[in-house]
Amino acid sequence: MRIIHVDSYDQLSALAADIIAAQVILKPDCLLGLATGSSPLGTYANLVERCSQGRLDFSQVRTVNLDEYCGLTADNDQSYRYFMDTNLFNKVNIDKANTHLPDGSAPDMQAECVRYEALVESLGWPDLQLLGIGHNGHIGFNEPAPDFPAQVHTVQLAESTIKANSRLFEKIEDVPTMAVTMGIGTIMKARKVLLIAGADKAEIVEKACRGPVTPEVPASILQLHPDATVILSGK
Ligand code: F6R
Repeated sequence: MRIIHVDSYDQLSALAADIIAAQVILKPDCLLGLATGSSPLGTYANLVERCSQGRLDFSQVRTVNLDEYCGLTADNDQSYRYFMDTNLFNKVNIDKANTHLPDGSAPDMQAECVRYEALVESLGWPDLQLLGIGHNGHIGFNEPAPDFPAQVHTVQLAESTIKANSRLFEKIEDVPTMAVTMGIGTIMKARKVLLIAGADKAEIVEKACRGPVTPEVPASILQLHPDATVILSGK
């Protein structure tokens, strides 16, 4: 595991964008695994800027996102599809048909989990998976649990996750309590993993990178990934 310390969120975002841009330049039709949340906002803004300056070409890039809230349709402004469209996809020259998220509004969520796992497999697993981390060590929405979930599955969000995510909703009751997420096994199949974390995550990043590998700290599994990079910002 490579751990890179940078001084600021701006430096974190620029470095993460460098790594993603390098992946796209080396393999223009790469499969990027993407995340939502506050952490990657600066990274996406950097990628948008490079694309608008003609320095980066997303025309052949394919993407799969980690997760989606259950019960929200794609046009709901709290859905992760909406987040990805507004923060990245609508602003770069990507073919929307090549961008994929789990469908949180599917009538049969079990079937949706099977479909999404098969889709990620059929696309060849991500060349690079971008991750944020929850204060409880979650990656995707793999919350602390007795076991590492292997495949795409639905999950009951932890109280702390609902509370953390409520900052983006009008009231806490509006936060969906269930989500669909790639499993730890799905994430570990990515050829490279890049986890980005702000200063407020320093404690959990330390546990995840240097503590025991345990499903109680889901991100700790990344210690066993052959090509994992963590960027942690100092403020
Ligand atoms: C989002 C995701 C989550 C977030 C994590 C950190 O797609 O998978 O694991 O990365 O909750 O969220 P922020 O970046 O908002 O602190």
